Amino acid sequence: MQDQTSPGAKTFYIETFGCQMNVHDSEKVAGVLMARGYKPVAGHEQADLILYNTCSIREKAAQKVFSHLGTFKKKYRPGEKVIGVLGCVAQQEGEEIFERAPQVSLVCGSASYARLPELLDQVETGNRRVMGLSLDTDECFETELTGRENPFRAYLTIVEGCDQRCAFCVVPMTRGPERSRPSDRILDECRRLVDEGFTEIQLLGQIVNNWCDPAPVRLSFAELLGRVAEIPGIRRVRFTTSHPRYFTPDIIEAIDAHPALCDQIHLPVQCGSNAVLERMGRHYTREEYLEEIRCIRSARRAISISTDIIVGFCGETAQDFEETLALLEDVGYDQVFSFKYSPRPKTVAGNWEDSVPEEEKARRLAVLQERQRQIQLARNQQWIGLTFEVLVEGFQPRLQQAVGRTTSNRTVNFSGRREWVGRYMNVRVTAAGPNSLVGESLEPGESSPGATT
Ligand code: 5AD
Repeated sequence: MQDQTSPGAKTFYIETFGCQMNVHDSEKVAGVLMARGYKPVAGHEQADLILYNTCSIREKAAQKVFSHLGTFKKKYRPGEKVIGVLGCVAQQEGEEIFERAPQVSLVCGSASYARLPELLDQVETGNRRVMGLSLDTDECFETELTGRENPFRAYLTIVEGCDQRCAFCVVPMTRGPERSRPSDRILDECRRLVDEGFTEIQLLGQIVNNWCDPAPVRLSFAELLGRVAEIPGIRRVRFTTSHPRYFTPDIIEAIDAHPALCDQIHLPVQCGSNAVLERMGRHYTREEYLEEIRCIRSARRAISISTDIIVGFCGETAQDFEETLALLEDVGYDQVFSFKYSPRPKTVAGNWEDSVPEEEKARRLAVLQERQRQIQLARNQQWIGLTFEVLVEGFQPRLQQAVGRTTSNRTVNFSGRREWVGRYMNVRVTAAGPNSLVGESLEPGESSPGATT
């Protein structure tokens, strides 16, 4: 988004915390604001309206918001700025936010974004306590106005909310019930995105593979993937996040059949112990999960697999943790996002004893991350000497390096030029670290070694 203030125009700044869903929500909110004549600016100092789109998945994330709001209290006179809190902390804390941070005048959860224009009307007329907190919505927040940040990859929500009630997770309380968008609307939007120049589509949902077509054609999720991948002009399709409970082999058949479906699946396991999985309310066993991994590994292309893991969930024993470590080896993940368990209000486990001490959680997390680092390094080293197509997503001027992404979601750094951003290029891998690769471009006359991970 560009900083394009004109005299007299109202300006806004949105800061986003948390997941891709939140990033995309901010894009939609920005679209609504720009349609009302607000102009985006690069920092809160220049903004008339400051919005915090918040995350409450772990306590730390939620605390961050209040500490930011605290610094504003000192910086700005009351009424100098209009400040709003959006997203999961807004939903969770509700009216409380006005008490804890009196400079806030808008509190709106993600299930109420469809009401944003009306709420903004109230803010603009000077109302200092405007709230949108209803969770009983059955609509998706659809907007043609979305102001997408990334010019190549478009996020597209296909299912919002979540009905799972995993014992640790606050999302059903903050994002409301699960609701799917009809396939015809999704496919129309994909075509429009291609017309706007996007070549990569990332389909989003808390449980993306539980998408359930409300349109009369009743496409399955795998059929939807195929339909999106067949749209001329779309070169890459990703989807996140998949839940193992709803993982079906036809997803792999779709990937086999459609080269545009990326070689990447994010399949959060959370834990390797059946006892803990059951307490978490995940509805699968370690064995069933490993069966799904075998199915993914049987695909014609090598599909990279990433996961989320929580360490130190209520009652997790040393043996349970060993089983999680063993699972890392059994699967051979390409990337792992790992977290210390953080009890959340109103969740099933929120009332249980948080039995693993903080230091032990930290120790387990460090052990797990070190083990995974070694696994990733070994896996990435197997790529040295091979050539891959990357989409150049960025450029680091200081290092004169292009930053590309493979369809398997690996980052490759290689000497390059700013003009390459947005291009698909072939790159040969020359070195590997645990988190990224180094390569050289195979464009005639363009190759030059020397990039660093
Ligand atoms: N504590 C720690 N991690 C959590 N996650 C979700 N809830 C919690 C919690 N209470 C993690 C899960 C999820 C990811 C997005 O965040 O691993 O998949």
